[in-house]
Amino acid sequence: MVGLMRLSPSFICFMCVHAVVMVDAHLQLSSGLMSRSDFPTGFVFGAGSSAYQIEGAAAEDGRKPSIWDTFTHAGKMIDMSTGDIASDQYHHYKEDVKLMHETGLEAYRFSISWNRLIPDGHGAVNPKGLNYYNNLINELVDYGIEPHVTLSHLDIPRSLQDEYDGYLSPKFIEDFTAYADTCFKEFGDRVKHWITFNEPNIQTITGNDLGNGPPNRCSYPFGVNCSTGNSTTEPYIGAHMILLSHASAVQLYRENYQEIQKGQIGITILALWFEPVCDSPDDIAAKQRMLDFHLGWFLDPLVYGDYPATMRNIVGSRLPFFTENDSKQLKSSYDFIGLNHYSSLPVEDQPITFNKYGSDYIRDISVKGLSSKSLHQMKSTMPVDSRSLQRLLEYVNLKYKNPAVVIHENGLRGHGDNCNAQALNDTERVEYLQSYIESLLLSIRNGSDVRGYFVWSFMDCFELIDGYRSHYGLYAVDFNDARRKRYPRMSAKWFSSFLAKEKNSAKISSH
Ligand code: FCB
Repeated sequence: MVGLMRLSPSFICFMCVHAVVMVDAHLQLSSGLMSRSDFPTGFVFGAGSSAYQIEGAAAEDGRKPSIWDTFTHAGKMIDMSTGDIASDQYHHYKEDVKLMHETGLEAYRFSISWNRLIPDGHGAVNPKGLNYYNNLINELVDYGIEPHVTLSHLDIPRSLQDEYDGYLSPKFIEDFTAYADTCFKEFGDRVKHWITFNEPNIQTITGNDLGNGPPNRCSYPFGVNCSTGNSTTEPYIGAHMILLSHASAVQLYRENYQEIQKGQIGITILALWFEPVCDSPDDIAAKQRMLDFHLGWFLDPLVYGDYPATMRNIVGSRLPFFTENDSKQLKSSYDFIGLNHYSSLPVEDQPITFNKYGSDYIRDISVKGLSSKSLHQMKSTMPVDSRSLQRLLEYVNLKYKNPAVVIHENGLRGHGDNCNAQALNDTERVEYLQSYIESLLLSIRNGSDVRGYFVWSFMDCFELIDGYRSHYGLYAVDFNDARRKRYPRMSAKWFSSFLAKEKNSAKISSH
């Protein structure tokens, strides 16, 4: 992976990140001083999803496979699941948008499946795919719900992977830009919020370093179960191409569409926070390295036009260079930065040297808590600490010139049976959301320019880490029911009541 820290095999677990969210069951709901109306004018609250995770209808109406279809059909998920049907939003979008309206959502973040719209990745547009997204967007707009649209949410057409290794090739830039062009042209009259890529910092790590996500490329000893790949170089090359593709699509939007359509465009990265295990200079330096490799990898080029010096020093010649033109095009190629934040992770300096190989990202920083033993210890000692969000936002504000930020994902993972009484009465999730939203408000008061907040996820879906073994939804989906019936959780009711009350504080109605 990326470069630099020996991310132990479980960060590896595609962001055990979410697995390490620690919840203290005794955390009390705060006194309820916060209300929807405390947030600035124009601030938007919503919830999100992504195409492969929610749509289903994988082989219908002209859709061809994405790299996720290849991955799941090769039996690579821990529960052997696929997104073939998922939450079946493709067939239930009307009902779902109605549910969003009843919940009081102001915005819905979803992604377009590139391979549904342009099945071969380039060339002909699939009229039925076009029709589906037009219908979904129209339905949202009719209910007054803003569509916030991601162009590539960790999925790309399989044909491009087969043809030229997807985002490892410079050909990807042209194809992505042409796809973005189609989206701006077809949907830009109604879509005013565009996200080029979701979490490219994780896409390249899971897909090309650890190999535990599509396109399932990696090399020994950094990843397992890949038939091909090079963990020492591919994550950097992939990230580089994705950055250039982003910048190219933004330039196109700005030159041809923005003035008329009056929308905004940005990119979204996974943005965890890190705390040093000890106050030692080594651990503090480790924390900074982690931040540089995790956030700086993308934010430095976007704000300053080049990768962080730390990465240059450690990755050396394996880190691609930007031409002067690239840097120019990249700098300020965003109207907002999307941040997906779930939790903070403790980091500590690890003297093991792996830097002759790949995976520098994880080299000498161990993310503690990855073994089940330490995870257990952490669970009992670390409550949900929503201050991680305040620290993250303060860091981004100070280090990256206070950009406009949208929190595109924040949510709490639930495990196991997703429809039983306990899973529906998700008070832990309510506490988590309330606490993070309060943190957000404090950050705004502290000067961060945050424009929106989206719960991950609106409803249960195919989860990227472990299929249907975990869930984040405000609404539960019965995956054993052919109709995929939806059930409101306590968190849906809480969010709804928070959004509905202009003056009064949101209170959970029952426990
Ligand atoms: C994020 C992904 C999102 C979802 C959450 C739990 O990394 O962007 O699609 O799976 O994790």
